[in-house]
Amino acid sequence: MRNKVVAGNWKMNNDINESINLISAIKRDITDSCTNVKVIICPPFTSLDTASTLLKNSNLFLGAQNLHFAESGAYTGEISAEMLKNVGCEYVIIGHSERRTLFNESDELINKKLISALANNLFPIFCIGETLEQREKGITFRVIENQIKLGLKDIDSKEIKNCIIAYEPVWAIGTGKNATPEQAEEVHSFLRATLENLYSKSISDDIIIQYGGSVKPENAKELMQMPNIDGALVGGACLNSDSFIKIIEAANKY
Ligand code: PGA
Repeated sequence: MRNKVVAGNWKMNNDINESINLISAIKRDITDSCTNVKVIICPPFTSLDTASTLLKNSNLFLGAQNLHFAESGAYTGEISAEMLKNVGCEYVIIGHSERRTLFNESDELINKKLISALANNLFPIFCIGETLEQREKGITFRVIENQIKLGLKDIDSKEIKNCIIAYEPVWAIGTGKNATPEQAEEVHSFLRATLENLYSKSISDDIIIQYGGSVKPENAKELMQMPNIDGALVGGACLNSDSFIKIIEAANKY
């Protein structure tokens, strides 16, 4: 039985004071009954230290939005897995479509980042998803399978158990236009079959596969009810505690 996992990807939003306000509101308003869902908050790097202090002794977990695969060295502007661990992160988003598109991240680079996260005991949230053009061409499954195979190269059965997969159709991110529950479910069950081929049935049964792309309180219930959707990676709607909590509550209930 898989529990739901909801992660809030703040992207490049919230300075330190805004981060304090948002985390305080989430902590204050989240109900104790949300025991079936794990909640992860992923602020920008500059707020991680503050967030880490605020999240101590809470049920909320801390994640980062990116890392560099090297341990240390001359990589101006970059942050290593060990540094994230040191500041209190347990999770890290890897391969987000904004990183792939705006920062030219390749599947090979994403694979190195996943390996580095796992080697440093961080749980990666590994994002994949097709563009609108790819969907319209009818190659969604091929794109997804390719991203999974290249991204997970050399990651063994023991390590994959520490990964979360996030299916985020690029055309649904930040557009207000979510995939329908049926469209998402179709890809999620394809993903499970792909993971069964690559690893085993028990691994594919146990792995958390989140949906991301315009998840909001209005569509969370329908999405969370699908059998192969195990939670959400939320962008825009996680910047407001009310809407984020409504999504968490939907994940907890369905
Ligand atoms: P969105 O972003 O919820 O604003 O569409 C999701 C994401 O980028 O992870």
